Amino acid sequence: MKVSYKTVSAKVTKTDLLVVLLPEGRKPKLPGGVSIPKSVAASFSGKSRETRFTDAIDGPAERVLLIGLGEGTSFDLETVRRAAAIAAQKAEKTDAASVTFWVDLKLGKSAQDFGQALGEGLTMGAYQLVDFKSSPKKRSLKKVVIQASKEITSGAKIGEIVGGGNTLARRLQDTPANMMRPKDMVAEARKIAKGSARISVKALDEKAMEKLGMGSLLSVSRGSSEPAYLIHLVYKPTKKAKRKICLVGKGLTFDSGGISIKPSARMDEMKYDMSGGAAVLGTFHALAGLHPEVEVHGLVPTSENMPDAMSVKPGDVVTASNGLTIEVLNTDAEGRLILADALAYAGKTIKPDAMIDLATLTGAVVVALGHELTGVMGNDEALSDALVASGKTTGELVWPLPIIDFHKEDMKGSVGDLKNIGSPSTGAGSCTAGAFLSNFVGEIPWAHLDIAGTAWGATNRDYQGGSAGTGVGVRLLLDYLMKQA
Ligand code: BES
Ligand code: ZN
Ligand code: ZN
Repeated sequence: MKVSYKTVSAKVTKTDLLVVLLPEGRKPKLPGGVSIPKSVAASFSGKSRETRFTDAIDGPAERVLLIGLGEGTSFDLETVRRAAAIAAQKAEKTDAASVTFWVDLKLGKSAQDFGQALGEGLTMGAYQLVDFKSSPKKRSLKKVVIQASKEITSGAKIGEIVGGGNTLARRLQDTPANMMRPKDMVAEARKIAKGSARISVKALDEKAMEKLGMGSLLSVSRGSSEPAYLIHLVYKPTKKAKRKICLVGKGLTFDSGGISIKPSARMDEMKYDMSGGAAVLGTFHALAGLHPEVEVHGLVPTSENMPDAMSVKPGDVVTASNGLTIEVLNTDAEGRLILADALAYAGKTIKPDAMIDLATLTGAVVVALGHELTGVMGNDEALSDALVASGKTTGELVWPLPIIDFHKEDMKGSVGDLKNIGSPSTGAGSCTAGAFLSNFVGEIPWAHLDIAGTAWGATNRDYQGGSAGTGVGVRLLLDYLMKQA
């Protein structure tokens, strides 16, 4: 899908589908030369996400889709994203190859944000689940023209890049685990680095990680025939950046639970256990196009958790690279084991000003917050607050959860320094997981995002939703990073 931009003073040229975004309470204004049945326009009120679809009577467009933006002069960005996504999907459904968006609105200060939401909604709405049928459906939509003010257009270009980061993450998420193995995650990271002069990548293999003493990370993939890696991406702006941020994403390409094996019902969903890693890669893909003045490091520990004669067993003790010993009481609490060494590596070798990890870490966060809110924990209130704020801007909502000394105390081991699960009577599974991670971050300001609820299975928002991956985290992190520049 190729997107190009024009002003509203230019004539609309031949298009399969003309999409007109309209505010509530005003008579629909169409571009010159386009005419539709009177009754269609007359019955349209412009309420948020209200649609009218019709053949055109005359003019350059075959068909016309009116979409409502709701009331006001600056519009709810979620409405704008959804409107653009509805249009992209209507185009696919009606086999349109070309679409023109007509946005004749004077929005003042909010124009750039409106444009970004439009670009995001369009790109995300056009995403289709990778299908692996022997004769896959061809996409119809090839060409999109956006006709709007300069400010809206400049926002839409950013939105296209941000949306592209989101859909990259979703493609990685939705790809089956036999085709998205740790080595495939490495290949995807290399592809992203190849596409930008400002991004470099290295992948530590098991030998390199052994040398660094990453016994916690390495214990998880012992039962798998797929070797583990620690991917390290670096984005550097042209000027020397004032701030250095490290992102860490859990990249479990399949989590069977290991010897503490999961029930078979819905185990297929555990291909999504690499969603944190996917979010980091999607973010880097977009950084290449946005080039903010901030240095960004991305760590993705990636591996597969399988039961086997070689697997780590309940009760085994492993040693992490910061010297702490961990009693593995449940091999299904593996995410924290790979994150532990990645976080310690960040503190030792990257020394960032702040670090943010994203992980499908606990089923408990789904109970606490459901599928619409990501849980945030950490050691720095300002950092958590900033992520909550970015959540409001992007619609990727974030809600704080506590880590108290009680949770930290509960993760102390009797055999090792730590154990990898909390006591049954403690509950608060997301908080104890966060408390476990806090042992590996040192003094660095840190936030942990538990995306187990939001990474897939979210409600339908037109641009995402249903059983597939959401790419959660990409738009959130990009909003946060752009504000650091
Ligand atoms: N990947 C899972 C968490 C998960 C569960 C994500 C359901 C999304 C949906 C994680 O590795 C895990 O299995 N966690 C355990 C921890 C427990 C053994 C302390 C869990 O949440 O049950
Ligand atoms: Zn698990
Ligand atoms: Zn897991």
